[in-house]
Amino acid sequence: MIIAQLSDIHIDEDASWARLERVLAWLGTISPDAIAVSGDLANHSHRTAYEALKERLSAFGVPLLVVPGNVDNRNAMRAVFGGPAEGPLNNVVPVGDTLRLIGLDVTVDGAVHGDAAPVLDWLEAELGTGGPPALIFLHQHPFNCGMDEYETIDCRNQEALSLVVGKARDTVLGISCGHLHRPMFTRFAGVPASLAPAVGKPGTLVVDGKKASSGDPPGLLVHHVKDGILVSHVVSLG
Ligand SMILES: [Fe+2]
Repeated sequence: MIIAQLSDIHIDEDASWARLERVLAWLGTISPDAIAVSGDLANHSHRTAYEALKERLSAFGVPLLVVPGNVDNRNAMRAVFGGPAEGPLNNVVPVGDTLRLIGLDVTVDGAVHGDAAPVLDWLEAELGTGGPPALIFLHQHPFNCGMDEYETIDCRNQEALSLVVGKARDTVLGISCGHLHRPMFTRFAGVPASLAPAVGKPGTLVVDGKKASSGDPPGLLVHHVKDGILVSHVVSLG
């Protein structure tokens, strides 16, 4: 089972479409079983951008999961991609009988950071349904990324989220986000956690007070699930 995770597309000017086209062209060569988009799809003209993006992604003919990021417009996203009629744009997308993609909307209106508190009950109920193994997607990172200047824009209430995910760690194969435009891997609540590279411009690496930009090309994560084991691949399309 191949799940392609695109993140932080930031549709804006022509350059963002050019980067997205490279990703879409590559996706065509691997034919994923599902596509997940972990937020920050478009910077403005949201409805128009979402309609164009949906048309391109739907062409793959596979299940599509979309969660909003801080630059997105939740209601425009709801109108184009569907989802619950009101409230957070949480969603569950089955991939065959053996996997489900859970989209968690942790965005906070008008804020760059996220907050898991409003969606914890929903997630706990979903994880308790006895459904197949799950991959959870959200926008803001729910873990300490170690890059001090970015910790203030994380997903808040990480400990409470960790308790909910931790109770279901036999069911949750992994949790993955976007937001920082740099691929990262760690653990969260005892499950593998990742942050996808951006389709849009790359983010700066900041560690121990050292700062270095990288000029990374557009990229994505390819989550491969086989015999119940998750292996996540970084693909850079330089
Ligand atoms: Fe973001």
